[in-house]
Amino acid sequence: MSTGRAGVARLYCARMSHEGYHEPAELLPEETRDFHRAIESLIEEFEAIDWYQQRADATKEESLKAVLLHNRNEEVEHAMMTLEWLRRRDAKINETARTYLFTDRPITEVEEEEDQAGAGDAPEKAPGGVRKGDGSHAGGSLGVGSLRSKI
Ligand SMILES: [Fe+2]
Repeated sequence: MSTGRAGVARLYCARMSHEGYHEPAELLPEETRDFHRAIESLIEEFEAIDWYQQRADATKEESLKAVLLHNRNEEVEHAMMTLEWLRRRDAKINETARTYLFTDRPITEVEEEEDQAGAGDAPEKAPGGVRKGDGSHAGGSLGVGSLRSKI
């Protein structure tokens, strides 16, 4: 079936207007749509890391490999910036990141210790604008300074 140029544009726009949504966008609060945008971006950044890594590993041309690895590392920076944006807005992500990241303990033991302590299920209170752990919105964003003081 040929849709022509206008048809292609219509299909593209229709897809972009609800890319990845599982509910009608008009039913979703702006905070959830921004959260979705960030998650989609994070997925794309990690995909780019994977693709650049594969291309760098596959090429036998050293200067191209260097460029691809440079670009891969730029994508890591983009991914971490987006992940940090999400962490600042979602108390459950914040709480869980603090449990699992930046520790040398075996990863599965961290989970076992958390399970034994009975932690991890209680929603964290939402200081500032952190998205509450129960999935509801608090709006705004958590100031960097208030989180840094806890690190
Ligand atoms: Fe990127």
